[in-house]
Amino acid sequence: MPSSLPPPLQTSFSDIDLRRWRDYPDIITDSLWLFPSRDKTGPHIGDYWGNFVPQIPNQIIRRFTKRGEVVVDLFAGMGTTLIECRHLGRHGVGVELVASVAAEAAARIGTAVNSDGVTAVMLIGDSRLAATTARVRDQLAALGRTHADCLILHPPYHDIIRFGDDAANLSNQPTVDDFLREFACVVDQAVALLAPGRFLALVIGDAYAKGEWLPLGFYCMEVCRRRGLLLKGVNIKDIQGNEKGKGRRGPLWRYRALSQGFYVFKHEYIFVFRKAASKQRRLPEAGAPRSGTD
Ligand SMILES: C[S@@+](CC[C@H](N)C(=O)[O-])C[C@H]1O[C@@H](n2cnc3c(N)ncnc32)[C@H](O)[C@@H]1O
Repeated sequence: MPSSLPPPLQTSFSDIDLRRWRDYPDIITDSLWLFPSRDKTGPHIGDYWGNFVPQIPNQIIRRFTKRGEVVVDLFAGMGTTLIECRHLGRHGVGVELVASVAAEAAARIGTAVNSDGVTAVMLIGDSRLAATTARVRDQLAALGRTHADCLILHPPYHDIIRFGDDAANLSNQPTVDDFLREFACVVDQAVALLAPGRFLALVIGDAYAKGEWLPLGFYCMEVCRRRGLLLKGVNIKDIQGNEKGKGRRGPLWRYRALSQGFYVFKHEYIFVFRKAASKQRRLPEAGAPRSGTD
């Protein structure tokens, strides 16, 4: 018997059925991101200093990709994004400069639930280089793709945490200007890899140096905007409870803040950008779904 249910109304970049848009209360559409605790499902151990909470890639992947599509993370670290890719049935390609970190990440990713049988590949490489991008493209080609469907970038917050002593590591750039110049090289590669009309998320926090708050997040946001990416969200995530050390030394930081006249970091940014599509369609307003999507 033919079903009387209307077909789902979906954008070109997500599986969310807009006819049922009220049925996704856990998908964040506001700019304030509050997670009561870190998701520790499966291999999400959370012991890599500087990794993000899995809820960040989870939100980005579910909002901005479809099942079976490909996500690329050019600062893959301990593989949080790729573990989420396996949990959510998306292919993933990660690039990490530190070989030992990439190897440990690959081992952990391999233990993550993979009901859809997707591919998750960790590459050891320098994400600033076109040669590394060529290797990512080889992985995309093996999946029958020319471009990635979503990019996630979680660079070092300049030198707040040093990830090894390689001069190519963005955490080892002598000055903020050096850091921004090298970060821009990675963004160039990211933009080239991203399919037109698709989304890139940049996760970064600010820094404090020589008695001054450095708006590193906004500097990096501007690097992306200057490369033609369209800014779709400046999201603030509460980092309460995520920081190693600072949590225990909270009272000391408060004392220092009061005595030296500064504010203690309690947030980081998730900037969301879209690469312009050659042709964009308008979505119908809520409550008036038509057959077209974006
Ligand atoms: C903030 S961490 C990312 C953590 C990751 N999101 C996770 O959850 O594990 C940044 C990572 O970028 C890596 N990195 C720094 N410079 C790089 C470069 N030029 N190419 C590739 N990876 C780089 C660092 O070694 C570090 O592991």
